[in-house]
Amino acid sequence: MTSRTVAATIERAGDQLPVPLVDLGLQHRRVAHKIFEQVAQVIETTSFVLGPQVAAFEQAYAAFCGVPHCIGVGNGTDAIELALRAAGIGSGDEVIIPANTFVATAEAVVRAGASLVLADCDADYLLDVASLADKVTTRTRAVVVVDLYGQPAKFEQIANIVPESVAVIEDAAQSQGAARRGQMAGSFGIAASTSFYPGKNLGAYGDAGAVMTHDDQLAGRVQQLRNHGGKQRYEHVVLGANSRLDSIQAAVLSVKLSELPEWNRERQVAAEIYEDLLAASEEIVLPRIVDGNCHVWHLYVVRVPERDRVLAELEADGIRAGIHYPRPIHQLPAFAPLATSTGLSNSERFADEILSLPIFPGITTNQQERVADALLRALCR
Ligand SMILES: Cc1ncc(COP(=O)(O)O)c(C=O)c1O
Repeated sequence: MTSRTVAATIERAGDQLPVPLVDLGLQHRRVAHKIFEQVAQVIETTSFVLGPQVAAFEQAYAAFCGVPHCIGVGNGTDAIELALRAAGIGSGDEVIIPANTFVATAEAVVRAGASLVLADCDADYLLDVASLADKVTTRTRAVVVVDLYGQPAKFEQIANIVPESVAVIEDAAQSQGAARRGQMAGSFGIAASTSFYPGKNLGAYGDAGAVMTHDDQLAGRVQQLRNHGGKQRYEHVVLGANSRLDSIQAAVLSVKLSELPEWNRERQVAAEIYEDLLAASEEIVLPRIVDGNCHVWHLYVVRVPERDRVLAELEADGIRAGIHYPRPIHQLPAFAPLATSTGLSNSERFADEILSLPIFPGITTNQQERVADALLRALCR
């Protein structure tokens, strides 16, 4: 067998395999050698907690986002909570978030002690500015704005409608490397949070997160809060938490950060390919890039009729699609007190129609064609 025949045989064998929603193994194999080297160094030097790898990653990620401060924390949920607490938000304060987000955004607000208020999303799945304006009251102290699916929210419009006393916090868990009008995601508002959950555009090898900010004092407070309420050992100034970024995770993240621009470019190419493959269908609503945004396609979310049937048929065809997210916050049992929230019709309707197609760095055109074929066939039935 010639090497060309072997390659063709391997590719044909791949044609039979399911197309995953994300392929973390493929990503790991591209950097495995460097990761093992860096992780070995943490182990050999036993610098497990807040070692030099954490400071090095914090500096690199702050520079990447264009802010002076990045504070590594345990996960993206803690990052939101600690940013809120560092901004002085807690009991008696109202915090507005979009209804169509991952549960963590809502959890963090409640854990910070504040009252949750939900606003609707617009046709780009981003916080709807008119709905936000309707929900602001004299008790509103903050809004946590989510860069859902990989593109920044409309921050300048949000700044125009919220009073100056309202803190804007960016939940940039899904927008690592994205930008709006030249400003990097992770640098909007008084503070931004992010998650390095393994499936994120910049994913760790376990849980990890960070808070970014331009504000020196807020940065100092997050540093305190993440480490039992003190910067010095045994000097606990405020009630804090144990939410430090592990040195091993920081070492992994530093290696992967240098690959992130290329991996995001691969996601952008994949999004263009989906657009070419699916644009002719009248039944599929394709995602749009908001004017002024650089989108990094954490998720490629379309809307289709009979979504649950289509999802089941894709699954039967070996296509692993997903739903982000199946229910808006006020329809989750954990947030039952918010069940009577009104004015959230887009979030409610889209939850029944959205479908996330496989997208990840290294997805092949052949895999994308199989996804598109299966989707178009499912929609014809
Ligand atoms: C929008 C959003 N916010 C917050 C989080 C919470 O991050 P973590 O899972 O690291 O706590 C996530 C991650 O899953 C997310 O997608």
